[in-house]
Amino acid sequence: MKNFSFHNPTRIHFGKGTIARIADEVPRDARILITYGGGSIKKNGTLDQVREALKDHKSITEFGGIEPNPSFETLMEAVALAKQENIDFLLAVGGGSVIDGTKFIAAAIPFEGDPWTILSEHARIHQAIPAGNVLTLPATGSESNSGSVITRRATNDKLAFSSPEVFPQFTVLDPETTYSLPQGQTANGVVDAFVHVMEQYLTTRENAPVQDRYAEGLLLTLIEQGPVVLKQPREYESRATIMWAANQALNGLIGVGVPHDWSTHMIGHEITALFGLDHAQTLAIVLPSVMHVMREEKASKLLQYADRIWGIKEGNDQEKMDSAISKTREFFEQMGIKTRLSDYGIEESAIADLVDQLKRHNMTALGEKQNITPEVATQILRHAA
Ligand code: NZQ
Ligand code: ZN
Repeated sequence: MKNFSFHNPTRIHFGKGTIARIADEVPRDARILITYGGGSIKKNGTLDQVREALKDHKSITEFGGIEPNPSFETLMEAVALAKQENIDFLLAVGGGSVIDGTKFIAAAIPFEGDPWTILSEHARIHQAIPAGNVLTLPATGSESNSGSVITRRATNDKLAFSSPEVFPQFTVLDPETTYSLPQGQTANGVVDAFVHVMEQYLTTRENAPVQDRYAEGLLLTLIEQGPVVLKQPREYESRATIMWAANQALNGLIGVGVPHDWSTHMIGHEITALFGLDHAQTLAIVLPSVMHVMREEKASKLLQYADRIWGIKEGNDQEKMDSAISKTREFFEQMGIKTRLSDYGIEESAIADLVDQLKRHNMTALGEKQNITPEVATQILRHAA
């Protein structure tokens, strides 16, 4: 196991009725900006619960319209509003996009210089406005991590930043807020969480049995409960299990002391930037092909995954790896998420553009061994066609 330091400062309130807890989490005298997306929180009653919880708070402004794959352009409107209103606390209510967007707003308000450089040049963030959130879509883990992914529409850039300054102070995970999710978003969440685990698990071998078994527990749980929430969207226990699993998949814990990959995510971000696919759709396309192309260096963990996750005992090593990759693809398809570029109308001729995007963003040495060069990324995308 490699050395590590682990600190996750986000307080988690989990369960039915816990939105009321924000009454004590948000300072009474704060000038609050509630941020949200396209309106799902109005339809499913979440915003009403938030307003009720904050009824004794004096200063509340609202900013809606943060899109899926939140845009720099929209977020800068929120930054202007926040400055005008002297906002000093941000409350994000929604999915990963609203929470990611709110992290950017929090960092951009006090930032000196062009806030886009937070993404384009990883400019250091020295301070951020304090923030908390109410999560309505279990998927990204953004609710209690320090990462954020922002898209600049004008230039087709989808870039990530991370800073300890933007860790949320608290998150509320009430599984009942997720009953209203459309099937496709429920499935996206399960697949995103699954791939977060895989990016921290399916790498080169490291002597880290605790992390391995945490990761395997999450994978087995997602495989078991994912199909249940699709069939029974109002089944509380399954919704709760998925919400907790997605949180644990990317709150930092399973990734301590082990190598990380993240190539599936970086290649996937370029597919979203150019073609607008949902984040999880891109992951379902790319991961099986990363597993296929990088099978030799991942062999030891891939065989462990085949055995412990899918119970594959028959065949030689190559056959076992093939079966494990097929099982992974079948699971995504079972969740209703297609796994080929062609399923989304993306032709092989687009692969060169996707690889150019990777080069433009300096993503030329991806993977746990930094050996996914543009040439290897091309092979991966060809295999995903
Ligand atoms: O905008 P509204 O109206 O709220 O509707 C949203 C949106 O259309 C809807 N939705 C959310 N909760 C709902 C609901 N509809 C009905 N009932 C509810 N309870 O779902 C749609 C998608 O929402 P979005 O927030 O975009 O989805 P998700 O949570 O999957 O977030 C995806 C974004 O997170 C980034 C992705 O790249 C993408 O931009 N990621 C962030 C990460 C992080 N910060 O650590 C890691 C991830 O790997 C990921 O890259
Ligand atoms: Zn993801």
